[in-house]
Amino acid sequence: METYVTTLHVRTYSHDDAADIRQTLLDVHADAYADRLDDAFVQKFPWFVDHWSSHPQFSCVIGYDGAEPVGYAYGAAANPGREWWRGHLEPAPAKDRTFHLSELMVRPKWRKTGAAERLHRALLDTRDHDLAVLLVDVTHPKVQALYESWTYRKAGERQPFPDSPLYAVMVATLPLAD
Ligand SMILES: CC(C)(COP(=O)(O)OP(=O)(O)OC[C@H]1O[C@@H](n2cnc3c(N)ncnc32)[C@H](O)[C@@H]1OP(=O)(O)O)[C@@H](O)C(=O)NCCC(=O)NCCS
Repeated sequence: METYVTTLHVRTYSHDDAADIRQTLLDVHADAYADRLDDAFVQKFPWFVDHWSSHPQFSCVIGYDGAEPVGYAYGAAANPGREWWRGHLEPAPAKDRTFHLSELMVRPKWRKTGAAERLHRALLDTRDHDLAVLLVDVTHPKVQALYESWTYRKAGERQPFPDSPLYAVMVATLPLAD
């Protein structure tokens, strides 16, 4: 059974906060991926942070245990016609306003505490989209299983960049069930 971090405070940020939260996003990433910082793709993370946070509809939640940031989730509305599920879901869903969940990460000390699920839900509960889509490395089946337990289903596979991992495209219907 998961024990929730009762002191987890979740704060919501937008594109306007990008500069203020940038270092926090990088610091949490450095801790969450401490064992993979020599990976060339992982080293590109600052570029991705700036890319996503520059989106006018960027939305981010950061969880804090006291003053300590423990993890976050962020993403942005998908551009119509460019949704990650497109070409994988046939026929295309009738209700197709889509939120792309770009990142979910929790620092090792706060894993298995329920913090990840709370952050995920905190971000998506404030969306008015029909679908949430995320990409998960196909070599991480336990992470895929975690998302399946949160109602995501695999729609296909994609490799967005030549040097990126091969990802499973995971789709969930919004709003998430209670
Ligand atoms: C994904 C994450 C937020 C989930 O946190 P959580 O709900 O507390 O769940 P856990 O950390 O226990 O992860 C669930 C399982 O997936 C595994 N897992 C998590 N991240 C993994 C990764 N990057 N690579 C391989 N396996 C991973 C865990 O080892 C765990 O397996 P176990 O039950 O055998 O111990 C957290 O593990 C994390 O920040 N991971 C690193 C970043 C990441 O991979 N984000 C997902 C990108 S799609």
